[in-house]
Amino acid sequence: MTSTNDIRRSFLDYFESQGHARVPSAPLVPQNDPTLMFVNAGMVPFKNVFTGLETRPYSTATSSQKCVRAGGKHNDLDNVGYTARHHTFFEMLGNFSFGDYFKEQAITHAWTLLTKVWGIPADKLTVTVYHTDDQAFDLWKKIAGLPEERIIRIATKDNFWVMGADGPCGPCSEIFYDHGDHIYGGPPGSPEEDGDRFVEIWNLVFMQFVQEADVIVGDLPKPSIDTGMGLERVAAVLQGVHDNYDTDTFKALIAESGALTGSVTTGANQASHRVIADHLRASGFLIADGVLPAAEGRGYVLRRIMRRAMRHAQLLGAQNPLMHRMVPSLVAEMGAAFPELVRAQPLIEATLLQEETRFRQTLANGLRLLDEATLGMGEGATLPGETAFKLYDTFGFPYDLTEDALRAKAITVDRAGFETAMAEQKRAARAAWKGSGDKASDELWYDIADELGGTEFIGYNGTEGEAQVVALVKDGARVETAQAGDTVTILTNQTPFYGESGGQMGDAGTITNDKLRAVVDDTAKPLGRLHAHNATIETGEVAVGDTVKLSVDGARRDAIRANHSATHLLHAALRKRLGGHVTQKGSLVAPDRLRFDFSHPSALTAQEIADVEADVNAQIRHNESVGTRLMTPEDAIAAGAMALFGEKYGDEVRVLSMGKGDDAHYSVELCGGTHVTATGDIAIFKIVSESAVSSGIRRIEALTGEAARLWLVARDERLREAAAALKSSPDEVPGRVLALVEDRRRLERELAEAKKALALGGGGAAAPSGPEQVAGVNFVGQVIDGLEAKALRGAVDDAKARIGAGVVALVAVNDGRASVAVGVSEGLPFSAVDLVKLAVAALGGQGGGGRPDMAQGGGPDGDKGAEAIAAIRAALESQTAPA
Ligand code: ALA
Repeated sequence: MTSTNDIRRSFLDYFESQGHARVPSAPLVPQNDPTLMFVNAGMVPFKNVFTGLETRPYSTATSSQKCVRAGGKHNDLDNVGYTARHHTFFEMLGNFSFGDYFKEQAITHAWTLLTKVWGIPADKLTVTVYHTDDQAFDLWKKIAGLPEERIIRIATKDNFWVMGADGPCGPCSEIFYDHGDHIYGGPPGSPEEDGDRFVEIWNLVFMQFVQEADVIVGDLPKPSIDTGMGLERVAAVLQGVHDNYDTDTFKALIAESGALTGSVTTGANQASHRVIADHLRASGFLIADGVLPAAEGRGYVLRRIMRRAMRHAQLLGAQNPLMHRMVPSLVAEMGAAFPELVRAQPLIEATLLQEETRFRQTLANGLRLLDEATLGMGEGATLPGETAFKLYDTFGFPYDLTEDALRAKAITVDRAGFETAMAEQKRAARAAWKGSGDKASDELWYDIADELGGTEFIGYNGTEGEAQVVALVKDGARVETAQAGDTVTILTNQTPFYGESGGQMGDAGTITNDKLRAVVDDTAKPLGRLHAHNATIETGEVAVGDTVKLSVDGARRDAIRANHSATHLLHAALRKRLGGHVTQKGSLVAPDRLRFDFSHPSALTAQEIADVEADVNAQIRHNESVGTRLMTPEDAIAAGAMALFGEKYGDEVRVLSMGKGDDAHYSVELCGGTHVTATGDIAIFKIVSESAVSSGIRRIEALTGEAARLWLVARDERLREAAAALKSSPDEVPGRVLALVEDRRRLERELAEAKKALALGGGGAAAPSGPEQVAGVNFVGQVIDGLEAKALRGAVDDAKARIGAGVVALVAVNDGRASVAVGVSEGLPFSAVDLVKLAVAALGGQGGGGRPDMAQGGGPDGDKGAEAIAAIRAALESQTAPA
């Protein structure tokens, strides 16, 4: 038997051998189309190549593209499980020509691959063409030699392929496989065409036009080819089975759900097993491509797919969550072709387990309440809308499920009552909203959110995307258009721009299309649900309904990501080094720096700062990839995640884990921000300041990446300048500076000594003469310029000791002011206090005091030193000398 994996490989090999570039599947979330929920055909990633907006280094290509048809224009969700060929997730094999070959070559390739390479008998194949396409009709006759009755002209939309309301399109030709007359059905176009005998396996689209809003608006630059073959369908053909669910991949998954639930896989259980197998693939691939369950947008479609499978697991009698246990089988079947599945396996398992655990509680609680509420109700009764709303509001029990569960009892639900209760709750929530304090603008945001729903954020995995403008706000009011020069807030249905929240600044960038260029300098997040791009229109204009391209300034975002991830590592390092009392008190994540406030009683020592910095840098060098999971806040905290006390979290939180700890991740935190993929992307972490914010709260400011490098370069530059000034090398600067400081101290000491020596008659022109005799007493009287006032007393003591007994009066003059000290030896009949007062008066001052043997004072008249000494001398002379 040819396995599905072999068939995929053989298709791609064939077209590669025919010169086509082999292109890997694009992610399921469209990168270039705002009107699509998920990639739903192989040509979607090439849409702009067909229209000429984008060029690639090849003009022909082949791929096996992951597709999801659930939600949006192509929605197969409700049929899955009950038919042989409906899937939410499937692979589309395709070959593409971008203005290279056209119909003839496309038909030749298809026919060659099917009949020659794969050996499908020609008489099993029937084709259709668009009713007016004579050219295709003739080519099939010529190339395949098909009889005219097996080239069927079809006039309906079936043979005119469109991607969606907007995009390239064209007439097409479909190839059908005849599974044999044991199955009911007729060829396309016949009355029995809805039977299952003839199955379309390949669609060749002759791309020629572009449409907008369902209307053809022009030609493609060149006729092109887009083909799509359902891998699951062709696998059924090549494996000789009729039903896609009987092919190898599905058989393996269904066998696994049978084994894990201990249930038979046929009969009444068949649909449930098919739903589980199909939805497992869709859920696994969506999660691997970055979609996580949510209340809105793509995340909500994923949640519906997951929950549909989980309800079927419950119907099969599964006692425990089932879906996550099936992931290893999915990876075994498809991981080789899609490595993203292998990488995301832990995330897929954790997300499925969490969702199923919660959903089982919802089901159990809701069904119990429902039983109570319907007790005594007979057939044809109506459940009050308020009860249905209570189930929804308190137990998270979706309205559909209530209706579904009561269908068996023939009880209906009062839908209008449900809607009224819902509206009343919204009104109450609005009234209770504290908001920004600006009532008018809160009202405006509420109106927009109620009318249009929240903005879907598509920026966790990238910085670019397309979107539709859903509202414009100018000068506090909604407008329909805005022109060049206007400052306007642009709201879109989805955006890669992060709205400021959780300390992380909003993104900046551009919003453009062929008639608009707007520069976004900030993105806010009013009500926590809307992403409001604050923009200035540089050229052109924008109107509600326009399709625009959103481009986040990638370098700025990268810097923000690095700073945000570094903040988590810093938080963890502080707790490990300083203790578990460290908790976050505030945080700012900007492109150029990060700031982190935390509780800690004292300043960090230089050693603590160095240790924390070293720890964070060690984690950066480990370069471990950063993991994201979605959990309930309770589970996350139980798993050791750091949460902010008092912070209100939603039902679900993103849990970020990064770095390598002893036995777990170094850091696990609840966080909605954008982060690096691996810690090595942070490059460098440098703390540049540590300070106090208030008592018990410290603040660290730090840099990462290029900002840290530039800071270090600037420091290095300062060091070089210092070295140059010192005429030495940077390495020698500390030694040289220490030596200079030492020198300076020594010189100051020597200077003081010299001045003192000078004062005490150490020689030189200004040296005082030896003691003179005044009234029979040894007297030294001296004015010394520049002697420090505090050295005066010591100088007086020294002089007294030198002269034995006597009176010493020294005046020191500094900066025009004079200080005076007088010493009197014991036993002499003079009071130093009296003498100093005379000197102080002469110096223009007041007072002066001390003890009889030593007194001090000063005055403002620095030039009256000599008068002060003279006043003392005169006082001594007027006294009687001791006997
Ligand atoms: N784009 C075409 C389809 O999806 C091939 O059928």
